[in-house]
Order: sequence, then C-alpha cells, then structure tokens
Amino acid sequence: MTAPLRTDPATVKVALGDRSYDIVIGRGLVASLGARIKMLRPGAKAFIVTDENVAQTQLGAVKASLDNVQITANGTVVAPGENSKSYRVFEQVCEAIIAARIERGDLIIALGGGVVGDLAGFAASAVRRGIDYVQVPTTLLAQVDSSIGGKTAINSAHGKNLIGAFHQPVLVVADTATLDTLPAREFRAGYAEVAKYALLGDAAFFSWLEANWRDVFAGGKSSGSSAREHAIAVSCRAKAAIVARDERETAERQLLNLGHTFGHALEAACGFSDRLLHGEAVAAGMALAFAFSARRQLIDPAEAGRAIGHLAKVGLPTAPKDIAGGLPAVDRLMDLISQDKKVKRGMPTFILVRGIGAAFVDNSVDREEVRAFLSEKLAEK
Ligand SMILES: NC(=O)c1ccc[n+]([C@@H]2O[C@H](COP(=O)([O-])OP(=O)(O)OC[C@H]3O[C@@H](n4cnc5c(N)ncnc54)[C@H](O)[C@@H]3O)[C@@H](O)[C@H]2O)c1
Ligand SMILES: [Zn+2]
Repeated sequence: MTAPLRTDPATVKVALGDRSYDIVIGRGLVASLGARIKMLRPGAKAFIVTDENVAQTQLGAVKASLDNVQITANGTVVAPGENSKSYRVFEQVCEAIIAARIERGDLIIALGGGVVGDLAGFAASAVRRGIDYVQVPTTLLAQVDSSIGGKTAINSAHGKNLIGAFHQPVLVVADTATLDTLPAREFRAGYAEVAKYALLGDAAFFSWLEANWRDVFAGGKSSGSSAREHAIAVSCRAKAAIVARDERETAERQLLNLGHTFGHALEAACGFSDRLLHGEAVAAGMALAFAFSARRQLIDPAEAGRAIGHLAKVGLPTAPKDIAGGLPAVDRLMDLISQDKKVKRGMPTFILVRGIGAAFVDNSVDREEVRAFLSEKLAEK
C-alpha cells in the first residue's frame, strides 16, 4: 500500500485571548501554507528562517506554496545545530530580516526544528520591537513541544536558553510529511516528549501509546495509518491546555518539566553533544523520576516499571548505564542538578509522580536523598 498524500488536518487552539492561535496538524500541509498565510495576513511579505538540512528537504515546497498565492518571500539559512542559537547568528538573522525590509505587518516563518524555532522566534520578538511569526516545525520535538507556547531563546556562555522572550506565534503548521526525512534517532528522541504528556497527565493516552507506538513511528509510511497525526494532536492539545492556563510558567506549566531536572543534568554531563540528544536525556530523566518516586513510595513500583518499560521498548535510554561514554561521579551530577534554571534558593524543583498520568511539583525534595538515589543508579551495571 502506498503512503497517503494527505490526512485531514486536525486543529488545536491555543487559547490566549487576543494572542490565541491555531496549531494545524496533518500530512501534506505545507502545500496549503501559502493560502493559510494569505488568509491570515493579506498582503504581507514573508521572511523564512531555516537551517541547511531543512533547506535541502523542505524549503522548495514552502517557497512553491507561497509563490502559488503570490506571497513575496526572502529568507536566510543558518547552520544546523544548537550552535546557531548564539548572539552571532541571532545578529545575522535580525540584520537579514531588516535588510529584506520586513515590517511590522509582515511575517517571519520559522521552518525547522526547535533550534530554528527558538532563534527565529526570538529574532521576531526583537526586530522592530516585535514582528508576528508562523512556526512550521519539521522535527517531532518541535511539532509537539517547542513550536507551541511562545518560549523563544538563544544560549549564553552561562547556560542554555538564558537570553530570550515570550513571543507567541500567530499560527503553527505541523506537516507530518516533513518528518519522513528526519533521522530515526531524532524522531525517537522527539517521541520522549510525546510520552511525557501521557506520563504527566493522561493515563489513557499512555495505554494508547503502548498499543500504537509502532504505527506512530512508521507514520504515513505504513498502511495509511494516522496514528502519528493522532499522537501529535493529543500532545499539542495537552501542551496548549497547560500553556493557556499558565503562559509564564508560574505553576502548572512546570509539570512540562517532567524528566527535565534529571535530564538537563545528564545532558550537561554529556556536554550537550550528540552523545545524548535532548529527548534521550528527557527519557532517562523521566525514568529516573519514576524510579525516584517509587523509592519514595509515592507510586506502586510495578506502575513505575510499566512507564520505564515503555520508554525502554521504543529504544530510549532509561538509566545511566544506557548512556554511551559513561557519566561523571555523583558529586558532579549533583552540582549540575543544583545549577538547573528551575532552582529556587538552591533547591531544584522536581516533578514527581503518584501514578502514570499523575505528576505533581515537589519543592521539598531532600538533596541527600537524591544523591543516595543517583549513587545507586550510577552503580547499576
Ligand atoms: N521553545 C521551547 O519551548 C522549546 C521546547 C523544547 C526544546 N526547545 C529547543 O529546541 C531545540 C531542539 O530542537 P530539535 O530537537 O528540533 O533540534 P534541531 O532543531 O537541532 O533539529 C535536529 C536536527 O534535525 C534536522 N532536521 C530538522 N528537520 C528535519 C527534517 N524534516 N528532515 C531532516 N532533518 C531535519 C536539523 O537540521 C538538525 O540537524 C533545543 O535548542 C531546545 O532548547 C525549545
Ligand atoms: Zn524537553
């Protein structure tokens, strides 16, 4: 059976008053991007920010779609990878937008993964004190996470995402066909964030993922399945609901950090290198959060095992021993945990669980308890 060219798009609303916007999800949506933009902002010019990999595989179709409806589009192509979230590249992107005479009524298009989305979104927030932008996410992580919610940023020498702004997009178009060219490892890493929504707040979605994850991975390449689109739509709905209730992360939005306190420390321990992708670190971090919650007798160990087992089954790391190249000693990991952005007065915030789909924010976790737990985990062979 051949892959379907299109699936009916699903629309998820992010309800933020006069800054509300739609996330449209479906296979083949890039073809209608131009028409959607024309409807949203008649007469506007567009400026596309993308990276070299995405330019090779997706830029032609995006330009053709804009061209079809006579939208004038310029753009800039940055190098792929986290290093493009720098002051230097940020400056280049801003200058290119100004040189193309993009004005306040025009639109920036962020075409790519989370790196391009964060960089282009931040440039859009800054040039002329704010230009509207459209997210066209092309990685699974970007489709279910980074393109939604308006967090934009570049990195500082002191840490990731420390220079940025909240700037909501005016539209998100998630074309699942763009994922066909994504390397399998990147797709799997993005799946960790899909599993995160299930694990933090939706037990029924978790059961569905256990039964359907193979179709989600196969996507349109398997017999006409729309399991991938369903998983992305459920994930977007979960994030949209949380963002609508807590846009600036004062409370509930913290739940989206499930797996991220441990995960960021692991990522930093690997030097934010290809040894451990963000989603892989989050998977290991979530597994640690479940194991730690079981150790604190918050959750039935069998249920924690079920959560960890699913992550392992799809091929994600779930323990320090799964991380190639080894990890530093526990003291170093504890230092990295206390440097987490989410630290309040030296005590990191942990997202712990009372069950699958029942995460909560815990500000009272004892340092020594975390150290003892991590020592045990590091000793596992
Ligand atoms: N703003 C937020 O709320 C938020 C949330 C989570 C993560 N992030 C940020 O997102 C970034 C990570 O995003 P990412 O995982 O998408 O990484 P990424 O943007 O670096 O993309 C991963 C790799 O895939 C390539 N690629 C992208 N789309 C492709 C496609 N369709 N076909 C082939 N190759 C493709 C890219 O060129 C890159 O090499 C981090 O900087 C992180 O801080 C932001
Ligand atoms: Zn994440």
